Amino acid sequence: MSKNIQPYDTISTPLGNCYIYTIHSYFINKLASFDCGEKEQNDFIKRFAVGHYLAGINHTFLLICNNDLAGFISFSSYSYAFAEGFLDKIKKAIKEEFNKRGLPHEFDVSFKKLPVILLGQLGIDKRYQGKGLGRSLIREFVIPYSLNYCAENSCIGILVYTRSAKDFYRKLGFQLIYEDKNGGANYFYSLYKNVLEIRYKTFSSKP
Ligand SMILES: CC(C)(COP(=O)(O)OP(=O)(O)OC[C@H]1O[C@@H](n2cnc3c(N)ncnc32)[C@H](O)[C@@H]1OP(=O)(O)O)[C@@H](O)C(=O)NCCC(=O)NCCS
Repeated sequence: MSKNIQPYDTISTPLGNCYIYTIHSYFINKLASFDCGEKEQNDFIKRFAVGHYLAGINHTFLLICNNDLAGFISFSSYSYAFAEGFLDKIKKAIKEEFNKRGLPHEFDVSFKKLPVILLGQLGIDKRYQGKGLGRSLIREFVIPYSLNYCAENSCIGILVYTRSAKDFYRKLGFQLIYEDKNGGANYFYSLYKNVLEIRYKTFSSKP
């Protein structure tokens, strides 16, 4: 790897340590040969990922294992209209967290849309599928990165839309929150309690 490009993170996987890099011109040739078996994700990484990254639409990270492009992941800021029932559950859970800490502060939202981090695209190259890399990428990078992002920028969890990998997300603790007529579904990984914990500590720390 070029000495000038530092990895954003290192994660431990069943294949050993792999590296997370922000998308960069250095990797252009590797993007062209990526194949995860799904047209949408292949098109994204080959055609759109760079332009969307440069324009601030999303942030794509590459998973590099053994100097190979083994996978990628792309995040965006997003506002999601949660169903009424689910929104009520979130409000109730947050009020309970306030009560637990004896906080007098009010929490009520009249708007349906709440900020989330959107896991827009994820792909593991076919040569690396079924080896636990996707699982490691979510557990070791996506969740901690998202929590940090939410605590720093404000969001309440990770949202993903998928047709082909529902069980993959379900097994990783994502909750089904919406299914459409075309077989697609939204899954949500809640982070608001973790965000509250982090912010509460900072907010109430002694100066
Ligand atoms: C879905 C994908 C990211 C999974 O990556 P992976 O590295 O092959 O997955 P892992 O080996 O870490 O598997 C983790 C678990 O999820 C399951 N799983 C993997 N892919 C799955 C899929 N497409 N559907 C359902 N379950 C799946 C595995 O069986 C495994 O289950 P286990 O814990 O019971 O053993 C990868 O197959 C891929 O890139 N697919 C094409 C693109 C895509 O569908 N992206 C997701 C939509 S955004």
